[in-house]
Amino acid sequence: MKFFIDTAEIEEIRQANLRGWVDGVTTNPSLIAKSGKPFHDVIKEICKEVAGPVSAEVISLQAEEMFREGKELAKLASNVVVKVPMCEDGMIAVKKFKAEGIKTNVTLVFSPMQALLAAKAGATMVSPFVGRLDDIGVEGMTMVDQVIQMYQNYDFDTEVLVASVRSPMHIQIAAEMGADIATIPFKVMQQMTHHPLTEKGIKQFMDDWNKANKK
Ligand code: E4P
Repeated sequence: MKFFIDTAEIEEIRQANLRGWVDGVTTNPSLIAKSGKPFHDVIKEICKEVAGPVSAEVISLQAEEMFREGKELAKLASNVVVKVPMCEDGMIAVKKFKAEGIKTNVTLVFSPMQALLAAKAGATMVSPFVGRLDDIGVEGMTMVDQVIQMYQNYDFDTEVLVASVRSPMHIQIAAEMGADIATIPFKVMQQMTHHPLTEKGIKQFMDDWNKANKK
């Protein structure tokens, strides 16, 4: 299972990379805005930090504009993946990107049918947003299971990228379901390292060691 980090903060990417947790990066317009830096500069900087795919989202909502914008993004670095929102114009753009050999990540996917259409259009990755479904009282991970099943039934090579992750439990369930990728905020990656018995065990070992080595 591949782990992407869901951030536009260079320091978080560096820290996660030091720990071996970064196979790629996803950004979105909100994360870029939060970084406070110009869009293209942030993407270029991130692409230097990681060898894997870096998703950069188009802002336009019209197919031709999306295509033009995505082609500019793809020129920034060889590992840029153009992130396209799920909509009819987006699907036109995805088909064109595919024909040009440009990789895409279809984002803001909230139903299995949207995921099926994205795969038909030729998306490289599709991002089901699980946390935002949970937020409105709909079990987000159920959609992931359905999408994986549908893609297997018809041998689609579109990768399932679990997004809008809120907790380690999302990652555990995604891994059990066989999702290809999860994009995870750094804070959730850190939460995944913890277990109270690990922390208790470390403390006990240290206490015993210090007692035995007292003069
Ligand atoms: C994924 O590519 C998105 O950037 C992200 O996972 C959105 O998550 P949010 O619902 O926490 O904003």
